[in-house]
Formats: sequence, C-alpha cells, structure tokens
Amino acid sequence: IVIGIVFIVAAYLIGNLNFAYILVKFLKNEDVRNYGSGNAGTTNVLRVMGKNVAIPVFLLDALKGCLVIVVGRYALSLNEIFLILGGIAVVAGHNWPAFLQFRGGKGTATSLGVFLTYDWEVALIAIMIGLIILAIWKMVSLTSMVGMTMLPVFTLLLGRTVTEVIFAIVLCLFSIFQHRKNIGRIIQGRESKIGQKVKMKN
Ligand code: G3P
Repeated sequence: IVIGIVFIVAAYLIGNLNFAYILVKFLKNEDVRNYGSGNAGTTNVLRVMGKNVAIPVFLLDALKGCLVIVVGRYALSLNEIFLILGGIAVVAGHNWPAFLQFRGGKGTATSLGVFLTYDWEVALIAIMIGLIILAIWKMVSLTSMVGMTMLPVFTLLLGRTVTEVIFAIVLCLFSIFQHRKNIGRIIQGRESKIGQKVKMKN
C-alpha cells in the first residue's frame, strides 16, 4: 500500500515535467503558454516553434506516461488498481501541474504513452482512427478527442476488465474537459488546422 501511494504521488510529479514548457523555456526563454492556443503541448509547440521541437515534446511527454506504467508493472509489480491510479496521476500531473500554476497540457501524448504501455492493442486502434480523423479534418484537437474516445469504446468492445474501462473513461473525460475551448472553436468553425504557424517575438 505504501509503495502504491508513493508510486501515485511520484507519477503526479513526473507528470509535472511538461516538456512543451521545459523545451520552449530552455530554447527561447519564453513561456509557450503566452502564445498560440496558450496550451503547453505538442500542437502549440508545433505552431510556435515547428516540428524540430514539437516532435521531441511529443515523444518525451509520451515517454513519461510509458515510464510510469513500466515501472509500476515490472519494477514494482503493482496490481491493476495502483497501475491505473498511477496512469491517471501522470496525466493529471501533466494537465494540472502544481509546479506550473496548474496550467499544463491536454494530456494526449501522455495518455497515449500510458495506454500504449498498458494495453497496446486498444491504443493502436485509437491511434489509427485518430490518424484518419487528422487526415480528413486536419485539426489536432478533434483528432485527440476522437482518439481518446476510442479508448473506452474499444476497451468495452474487446471485453477488457471493468477497471480498465473505467480507466479509459477517466482519461477520455480529462481530455474532453481540457479541450473545452477547442470544442467551442470547432463548433464555430474557428479551430486552427495543423500546419498553421504563430510567430513568437525574438
Ligand atoms: O492535445 C492538444 C491538442 O489536441 C490541441 O492543442 O494547442 O490546438 O489547443 P491546441
């Protein structure tokens, strides 16, 4: 139990390592949250700094999600409940980081890392459906939300445990909540498309 609780707290703290914030701060000494959509995530880094920074942000944010599940499962041999709580904690740490005034990202990359490690089959299906949505509509926000919604849908369809279905539902609800402003923009037809750039001063 103690190890499990330490694991959950550590997962939340690892989630606080927001690589969009860290890399833009390091490379430009700017807060990425003052630009573009104001989000500290891959898509906004792509907008303001381009793919050479956005790709590492995506990979590192995903990797921290993988790391939590790998450590919990293989190094600590935790049970499903603790693993899931750790997975939720790392995404919560990314979305609502105590060290960054609780303004982090939207959790797509981190959730992907978590779920790919937890249940790669379901995650791969979600990624493929997401990529189709991206190819058609070119909006990363819509892609993220549809992909995240596929997690509960396919955990159910493939007969996964009730705890895993609940896990998927929680990550999906986090994502939709974090995308609330994007949803408004999508409805109004104002959501930015992938490839649109935003200038940063200096
Ligand atoms: O995962 C974040 C992405 O779906 C949307 O980011 O910057 O367009 O709000 P952004």
